[in-house]
Amino acid sequence: MKLFFRIFISILFLSVSNIQAQSSFLAEKDIAVFYPKDFDSVQTLPSLAIIHPLKRKMNLPTDWKTIPIFKTINGKNSIEIQYEKSTDLYGTGEVTGSLRRNGKEITLWNTDNGNYLQYNGDRLYQSHPWILGVREDGTSFGIIADHTWKQEIKLDHPIQMISEGPSFRVIIIEKDSPQEVLKSLAKLTGTIDLPPLWALGYQQSRFSYYPQKQAASIVDEFREREIPLDVLWMDINYMDGFRIFTFDPKGYPDPKKLNDYLHQNNVRSVFMIDPGVKKEEGYFVYDQGTKGNHWTLAENNQAFTGKVWPGQCVFPDYTREETQNWWASLYKDFMSLGIDGVWNDMNEPSVFDGTNGSMPATNMHRGSKKLPAGNHLRYHNVYGMLMVKATREGILNANPNKRPFVLSRSNFMGGQRYAATWTGDNKSTFNYLKESIPMSINLSLSGQPFNGPDIGGFSGDANPELFGQWIALGAYYPFSRNHTSTETVAQEPWAFGKEIENVSRTAINRRYQLLPYLYTLFREASITGMPIMRPIFFADIKDNTLRAEEQAFLLGENLMIIPRWAKNVHEPKGNWQEIKFENKDDGYQSIIKLKPGGIVPISQVVQSTEDYSANRITLLVNLDEEGYAKGDLYDDEKDGFSYREGNFSYFKYEADLINDTQLKVSVKQIEGNRNIEQYYRIGWVKEGEIHYSNWSSSKNIQLKL
Ligand code: NOJ
Repeated sequence: MKLFFRIFISILFLSVSNIQAQSSFLAEKDIAVFYPKDFDSVQTLPSLAIIHPLKRKMNLPTDWKTIPIFKTINGKNSIEIQYEKSTDLYGTGEVTGSLRRNGKEITLWNTDNGNYLQYNGDRLYQSHPWILGVREDGTSFGIIADHTWKQEIKLDHPIQMISEGPSFRVIIIEKDSPQEVLKSLAKLTGTIDLPPLWALGYQQSRFSYYPQKQAASIVDEFREREIPLDVLWMDINYMDGFRIFTFDPKGYPDPKKLNDYLHQNNVRSVFMIDPGVKKEEGYFVYDQGTKGNHWTLAENNQAFTGKVWPGQCVFPDYTREETQNWWASLYKDFMSLGIDGVWNDMNEPSVFDGTNGSMPATNMHRGSKKLPAGNHLRYHNVYGMLMVKATREGILNANPNKRPFVLSRSNFMGGQRYAATWTGDNKSTFNYLKESIPMSINLSLSGQPFNGPDIGGFSGDANPELFGQWIALGAYYPFSRNHTSTETVAQEPWAFGKEIENVSRTAINRRYQLLPYLYTLFREASITGMPIMRPIFFADIKDNTLRAEEQAFLLGENLMIIPRWAKNVHEPKGNWQEIKFENKDDGYQSIIKLKPGGIVPISQVVQSTEDYSANRITLLVNLDEEGYAKGDLYDDEKDGFSYREGNFSYFKYEADLINDTQLKVSVKQIEGNRNIEQYYRIGWVKEGEIHYSNWSSSKNIQLKL
């Protein structure tokens, strides 16, 4: 009887709570938009993720597969989506755990989550209301819950997305492959801008290099030891009492001098700026912000205060356009000291004595012309994103002829348009090293290609073995930076003795050799949104045995990176050839394999991207079964915007086997009007060896075995 009653009540409840979509349409052939009945646009729009208005182009076809059912779950505005049981789920942004996200529950509420330990690691620094589904046959779908309110994602049957805010619109992409879904995602949420080439180099950081003399001496060590380096990072200790936009008079009396020194050594500097502004009259940032009424308000309409590094702080309300402009303006003098890039940290925002480590959800953001006013429950997840938007604008205004570089800890779906990211405070243990791969891949599958973890681990002490393994892998992260906390053992490549120093040099040298290929991948990411770090299953979307592979990954389409410690890796079928850069094996280096049918351009080792040029390129070739291979190369002025006016070179390479023993590679510049003098040689990768041709200035290079 009781059971009968319960079933009756739940049927009644279901029928009451199911809300059908009020309207649905196709905005593109394969992109559907669904609005719930009670949709109130002011509550969730304008979208901060989607860059263009979504207009009706066609009616939703009756056979459209993936359909959200709008309903209330526990009184909350939600959707449910049914999908075929055998589908593999990915995406959901920056998350702990395995690559396949099936069965996972994630809360989207940006959280300063050191060591990823709180909340079982199911909420980290960023939010991506995004799911990528790959069906057994490779056809794929993508789901966007297009709002910024706190929400939960349950990757069960059905998928549930449960909001703490009002009802929201849902966007669904349907494509023949996950790659095509990602390209559509990029059309909807934007791509990265092409970064300056130096941002692709190896980067060294710690909390903190102090005083500035120590920072300079780190650069000296790199140069003396001939370990390539492009960027040195300045963490909070450079500031005067952690006041942003100031310099410690004792330790950092002359930041311009430090930056000049770095530049003389072909190294760039990135300095940290946090959102918390010390509440202190007489401090120019506080005074300006107070005068301009720029602070986020507490429920009582007074500026909200909370504790961060400098003590009691106030926090800019980046939803206001005036505040965006003011924040951007602060970077003018700062950048004029020769600072090259900005590191925005603690921007969840992290508040040490705040509600669950942040602001209360009842805080008020006032908005302005472009964004409506709303509480922190609505704007929390985009606090960091709106901050880095203004930061990027500020450093671009300060240096209009340079490509801006911003690194952000917090962000939101679409935030790749403004900043690269790292995965916050990991730990120096093997598990964190291993977990960094699925984490970076899932971020990459969520629209953010420019990411990577702290190489070596942030908290705790690394040891020679761990660091050796980490750098041998980390040389291939899209964002390749070594960073560690205060009071941990030193983590520079030479800190663990001669053997690991050599391991580090070899790994970093390889990254620099791969620069032509890497830069070409970044260019592709900036145009199509294709990730740089890709899951192995992208090599063969119909091979279901690859779907959970998370020890190895693809770098672009043509290279597979297999960490040395990886066991029983599911490799794609076909004759992938290992590239043996040199004969001796140090036992740490990742195994790099070249795809059958792929050509990868590499260059000589340089100590900084400043010395890089695409003038002497070795084309590594692995022929497919038909005796054919292809590849490409992008090259430009490394920085600045003249590439937008055509000042770049884009080459296509094609290799053909002639008479079984002769290889012919043709070079064609197919885009761009920049001419460079080039010398090429072929490196035919065959049965574990590389066979080189002579260097040639011809556009048709030949190699006879
Ligand atoms: C937290 C960041 O995650 C970490 O990378 C940084 O070193 C510290 N804040 C100090 O600024």
